[in-house]
Parts: sequence; structure tokens; C-alpha cells
Amino acid sequence: MRIQGLGYIGFHAPDLSAWKPFAEQTLGFAPAAGPGGDDVRGEDASAGAGGASLFYRLDERRWRIAIHRSATPGLAYVGWELTDAAALAQASEHLAACGVAVDRSIDPAMRGVAGVLRFVDPSGNPHELFHGAATAPGEPFVSPAGVSGFVTRNGMGHVLIVVPDAPAAEAWYARVLGLRTTDRMDMGLGKRAIFMRTNARHHALAVTDVLPEPCFHHLMVEAQTLEDVGVAWDRAQKQNAPVMMTIGQHANDPMLSFYLTCPSGCGIEFGAGGTLVDDARWQIREVGPDELWGHRGPTMDQIEAGGGRA
Ligand SMILES: [Fe+2]
Repeated sequence: MRIQGLGYIGFHAPDLSAWKPFAEQTLGFAPAAGPGGDDVRGEDASAGAGGASLFYRLDERRWRIAIHRSATPGLAYVGWELTDAAALAQASEHLAACGVAVDRSIDPAMRGVAGVLRFVDPSGNPHELFHGAATAPGEPFVSPAGVSGFVTRNGMGHVLIVVPDAPAAEAWYARVLGLRTTDRMDMGLGKRAIFMRTNARHHALAVTDVLPEPCFHHLMVEAQTLEDVGVAWDRAQKQNAPVMMTIGQHANDPMLSFYLTCPSGCGIEFGAGGTLVDDARWQIREVGPDELWGHRGPTMDQIEAGGGRA
């Protein structure tokens, strides 16, 4: 399987009214009409079409981020992009051969794509594979908060998933989704963070077992400039947005970013300046856990309190 990149993501939230200013005025995502229907799978169908979901654009695509009203907040799905219908058919066979149950019951129109299937990873996180995403020609992306743009060329960003056993998760994502390891980070006490890619973006998915509770930890979106990050950091503080990690810079990407806790309970990392790797020639690095600077906050305190970090 050859995934092109992270294509879209959906979250659940009981209160869409909390998401709207967070997405638009803090993060600068552009509100969108969405793909033409609400996915009410497991959600509050009584809210009715048009009132049960929010959709946001980051680029020329009709949408990249959706929030669906649901009693339980959290991740709804992570959408991984494939090239075409043949690749989706092959992926479906590959998943089945790997013993992964494939759900083809989702209407592609609900995602604004030509084809889609759904499956669940060993930690219970819902994923989708799709191809043929709709674009909005003649409707340029305009951020309501003035973000100059988002870097989506190698996928719309990355996700970090907290798992019980990072090496086991690495092996699963390599075998089942064909992800390739970029860095393995030693967090101390046998704990790891493992960064995996599908293209030149340093990582599309990372897994770690350094935190005690498996969860969907964060989505990273990459703004075009460092100024976008600095101005967004100012907006977040002025608007009293909940900070998960202060502004700082990772040593391995080396993304300059900050993390906010979104109304679905997980993190949104807002960054810029991520490096690209030579996908064909890259050799896996074994790296240490230190940040170049910053990134303080409850998550880092939790890691350090657990002794899982120098
Ligand atoms: Fe990240």
C-alpha cells in the first residue's frame, strides 16, 4: 500500500459552538459548506442535516477538517489518501489479508470523495482510506484569522497516537499501511516515540507509549510561515485558548509549534518550518528526547513526572 498522505480528519464534539471560534478565530481554518451531507454515523442524528457538523478548509480541497456533533468527544476518523480506485481496491485486499476488518458501508458522498473504506487500528482508532477528494476551483482558501496558508503538499499534517506498545504499533503500521520509520526517539525507561512517514514530510503518523493512557493525542497542521505561528500564538493567548504545550521547537522535525487543547479533548499542534526528508535514501535515526527549546505544559510535565524523559 502506498499512502499519499494525511488527507482529512474528523472529530466528535458534544458542543459545536465551542469549536467554531476555536477553529476560525484562533486557528484560522476557513469554514466550508462541506461535502454535501452530514455523516450521522454514531452521532446525534436528531440534530438534522446541516446542523450536526462543521467543515473546514485549509487549501483548495472542499474540506480537510470536520467536527461532528456527538455525545462523546474525540477522534471520529483519520483519512489517508490513495491515488485512485485501483489503489483503494488493492488496499482493501491487503487489509483483509492482514486480518483487518474492512467496512465499505460509508457513502463516499459524505466525505466528498470518489471512494472510501473504514477500518480500526489495534488501539481502536478509526481510520479511513480514500481517493478522489473534491476540490473547490475558483474558491481560494482565505483564513478568517489571516493565516497566510497551510502546507498540505505532502498531506495536511500529522497525527500522534498514544499506544500501549510503540514498537508493536510501529510494526503494525509498517505492515498494514506501509508507513516507513523516520526516527525512533528514546524517551527513557524503555519508552519510545516513533515517527513514520508516507512521503517527504518527516512524519505523517507518530506513536508513543510514554504517556500512560492510550489516546489520540494531536493533529498537527503546518502554516506557511513562522510569522503565522507567532501571530497565532498571540491570538491563542489573547483569546485564553487552553494551552497544551507552549511555543517551542522539536529537535527532530524540527517544527516550531505550539499545542492547544481542542474542544474534542485532544491537541492541535500549530506549526511551521517542518523539514522534508529524502524519502528514498533516508536511514532511520535513533534520537534523544530533548526539545530544542520550549514546548512546556501539562503533557511534558506528565512525561517527566513519569520519569520517562531525561
Ligand atoms: Fe506533532
